Amino acid sequence: MEYSWHLLVGLVVVAISAVTSESVNRRSSTSRVDNDVDYRLPNNTIPLHYDIRLVPFLENGNFTFGGEVTIDVMVVEQTSTIVLHAYDIDIDNDTVVVTSDNVTYAISNKTFNTDLHFYTLNFATSLEPGNYSIYIEYVGILSASMEGFYRSYYTTSSGETRWLATTQFEPVYARQAFPCFDEPALKARFTISIAHWPNQTAISNAAVASTSGADSTIENRVWTYFETTPLMSTYLVAFVVSDFEYQSNDDESFRVWARSDALNTTTYAVTVGQEILADMNDFTGIDYNLSFSKMDQIAIPDFSAGAMENWGLVTYRERLLLYKDGVATTRNKQNIATVIAHEFAHQWFGNLVSPLWWKYLWLNEGFATYFEYYSTATVETTWRLAEQFTVDYYHPALLADSLETSHPINEDVYSPSEINAIFDTISYSKAGSVIRMMQHFLGGPVFQAGLQLYLQNMAYGAATPDDLWEALTTANTNMSSPILHTHVDIKTVMDTWVNQKGYPLVTVTRNYTTATQEISQERFLLKGRGSSNDTTEYKWWIPINFASQANIAFTATAPSDWIRSQDDSVVISGFSPTQWVIYNVQQTGFYRVNYDDTNWGMISSYLQTSAYIIINVLNRAQLIDDSLNLARAGYLNYSVALPVTRYLTQETSYAPWAAAFTAFTYLNTMLANSTGYEDFKTYVLSRVTPIHESLGHEELSSDEHITKLHRLSVNSWACRMGSTTCREKAEELLLDYYSSSDPTDSTISADLKAWVYCEGLRNANTSVWNFLWERYLATDFSGEQTLILSSLGCSQDEDILNNYLALSISTNSSIRSQDTSSVFTSVYTASPSNVDVAFNFLVNNYEEISEFYGGMNRIGSMLQGLASRVVSSEQLQRLKDFVEEKQDVLGVALTSAQQAIELAEENISWLENYEADIVEWLAEEVAAIDEPQDSGSERVSFGILLMTISIGVIGFI
Ligand SMILES: *[C@@H]1O[C@H](CO)[C@@H](O)[C@H](O)[C@H]1NC(C)=O
Ligand SMILES: *[C@@H]1O[C@H](CO)[C@@H](O)[C@H](O)[C@H]1NC(C)=O
Ligand SMILES: *[C@@H]1O[C@H](CO)[C@@H](O)[C@H](O)[C@H]1NC(C)=O
Ligand SMILES: *[C@@H]1O[C@H](CO)[C@@H](O)[C@H](O)[C@H]1NC(C)=O
Ligand SMILES: [Zn+2]
Repeated sequence: MEYSWHLLVGLVVVAISAVTSESVNRRSSTSRVDNDVDYRLPNNTIPLHYDIRLVPFLENGNFTFGGEVTIDVMVVEQTSTIVLHAYDIDIDNDTVVVTSDNVTYAISNKTFNTDLHFYTLNFATSLEPGNYSIYIEYVGILSASMEGFYRSYYTTSSGETRWLATTQFEPVYARQAFPCFDEPALKARFTISIAHWPNQTAISNAAVASTSGADSTIENRVWTYFETTPLMSTYLVAFVVSDFEYQSNDDESFRVWARSDALNTTTYAVTVGQEILADMNDFTGIDYNLSFSKMDQIAIPDFSAGAMENWGLVTYRERLLLYKDGVATTRNKQNIATVIAHEFAHQWFGNLVSPLWWKYLWLNEGFATYFEYYSTATVETTWRLAEQFTVDYYHPALLADSLETSHPINEDVYSPSEINAIFDTISYSKAGSVIRMMQHFLGGPVFQAGLQLYLQNMAYGAATPDDLWEALTTANTNMSSPILHTHVDIKTVMDTWVNQKGYPLVTVTRNYTTATQEISQERFLLKGRGSSNDTTEYKWWIPINFASQANIAFTATAPSDWIRSQDDSVVISGFSPTQWVIYNVQQTGFYRVNYDDTNWGMISSYLQTSAYIIINVLNRAQLIDDSLNLARAGYLNYSVALPVTRYLTQETSYAPWAAAFTAFTYLNTMLANSTGYEDFKTYVLSRVTPIHESLGHEELSSDEHITKLHRLSVNSWACRMGSTTCREKAEELLLDYYSSSDPTDSTISADLKAWVYCEGLRNANTSVWNFLWERYLATDFSGEQTLILSSLGCSQDEDILNNYLALSISTNSSIRSQDTSSVFTSVYTASPSNVDVAFNFLVNNYEEISEFYGGMNRIGSMLQGLASRVVSSEQLQRLKDFVEEKQDVLGVALTSAQQAIELAEENISWLENYEADIVEWLAEEVAAIDEPQDSGSERVSFGILLMTISIGVIGFI
């Protein structure tokens, strides 16, 4: 599944860190439940086959469905009870019959447990091992909750409302559509039949087997009968009843469905989808069509996750499947391709081989995250996705996993809320990054052969990480010359990465006299060394490699050494004391690297020479991300870290800039109330100006894909850091659009809209704001709706913002509930002053907000989002006052509210520790910018430099 937070990557340029904290906080806002309660089904009964018949009543004002299920089960141990999952459905108890060989077994009573979602059949006499059949009739609700079997709607171009019924079962909602054994390892076959009006279509995982004529018992609806599926988990079952249409390949085995008005936007998904599916077929060596003869993808107007990998019927948010040329942004297009790749990777990693239990969710989501970019890269070869993976997933994973509240990749979970909570940065981005590390230390061939073996061994079954390690080990042993050192055992290595939370900081301390380096490991904590009371000894098996100024080995990603978990440090010898070394080539190992100040100094100086390009682009991004996070956490002085960013005046590549923008986002938030804020803006603007000038405000037909992404963030940053040319240009473009005669014909290129709308709106009046709001209401294209919604919060006018926030919690505002929370985020991330506006709104309207969202939960996550931006003691006090005053009404949100206070307090104490150093460095730097540049200091090693350039060029070939 693609979670929506996961897809906010890069959507709001300056909101990256807010998104990360939101995704991490997902987990802290759910309280752990009592583990004494056993949420697992008993193991005495195994489902074999479900026959499910459904009649959805989609007529306005009804929204129920009738269901009938026959479950063939095998009782494996004598038992007097059978326990199934059911939730939010009304079982007609009188219809329940259990038979075996035409003998009916008397049920003495039935009980239902609301906490466990258990429906228990108690039998008068024990059932002996053998095959039984359970028949149940029930009625359910097609709710608007976007869970289970639910309803969605759209409006036709002629203004008519049309309803559809669709499903979202992962992780625990299949039980809301039919009684079932709702655990991922309890695989069974499914035969599904659905009744619907003749002008509607029903689709499901399997292909259609047959259809019936009008059935008079259900008002002359017709039946669609589907073929029986292979063995699969309940959470992957799906069905949709709609009046949608599709585009497809020639034999109609690959279809993309959408409401008919949007049908012309499905073309890209048809093309790129088939290519990605073919690539995954090739990579895995297992043909998708062995499981299902067709693949359907469908764009659902109301969808809580980003997309869902239901086997053979993948469901998406509209903006993640529908592509409109000229209107969709480059980011939209990339998201569509990568999300398709994510869901298609799941057809193997998740669907064919499922996790034995949710504890191993990462076996799904880690691989899906990995292939999201690496499979798309085989199809869209010019997009530089390998570079983007690092900044989109790897760096955020490092950040999230450096919190004390992080958790191991293998995390014990029991209750539905615990299960939901691990759909987070750790299971997705960290696992994906650790998988990438594995690919590099095993080498591509062993990695692929091992994964193929894993899929073959576990096909149609349920796996644990040990099954994966075993297959990889076999593949490695079978390889004639594996790159893995013989003393390294894959399970031993990987257990340190998946069973421990956190990750190592590798510290390289050079002895410039003996030309040796001592390399040590410790757990990296964002709050700094010694900030944790946790006495667990965290140690990892760490693949090590490096490049040095004399040996520019930036393409060799295989490890040259390992730090073992029993090693506190290792010593490596032989480096020229006058030259830099850089560890973790292409940042493939999941760790940060720190150096002594001298080596950092040599790196910073070298980056400022024209030879900087010799350092691999991913390592340039690494140097920025590592140094500034090390400084943020107190492992490195800001006066050593900040000079790494000086060279950005000559950086033209996307990844280092993306890393820098993330780092600057944090500083921009924290320094908002500081005396050094103007210097900060001057410094950042001076770094951004050269690339801003070279990329300009106009799209060129010669632009690379990534250049378009880059231009947007560069322009946004230039404006925010105070460039008047930038701001004036944005205002001019927006006003031109505002006064154009035909608002449907915008001349602003799609990729620059987020910049023009946001920056243009800052000082704009109500009528310009209303104009864009009208565009939101008028556009039928979801990608553009999202873009406008996230720009509308950029206004600096309190009345406009309050009006906007009020719209987001009014039921008839035309903002779909899947999008409402992004309104609040767009306001408080737009500027420091907007934080107070959003906070005031929350304080004054918390009752309405909680009523709109059906509970206090949302208040908790809003408070946390705001708290991460609290930078003054007044703001902190107001937050505390609110939480104290309202502690009785906050209810379930009280824990997250208290965590919000902690977050805010951490910001304040961080400022006490670091603000002065940063402000001092910035002041000196800004003073130097204003003076004529003295280039003498950079010339010292010019001879060596020229030498390295020539070596470097050879190195690149
Ligand atoms: C069911 O679980 C119990 C307790 O873990 C175990 O003793 C028993 O062998 C299991 N039975 C089957 C059939 O797997
Ligand atoms: C929905 O429609 C079905 C079939 O007409 C009917 O049996 C049922 O009572 C209706 N339910 C509601 C809540 O209107
Ligand atoms: C069960 O009864 C049906 C109908 O009476 C009959 O066709 C079928 O053969 C019986 N099955 C068994 C296993 O006795
Ligand atoms: C069926 O029985 C369960 C358990 O006693 C009960 O909770 C439920 O309300 C009953 N369903 C209906 C529709 O009466
Ligand atoms: Zn997924």
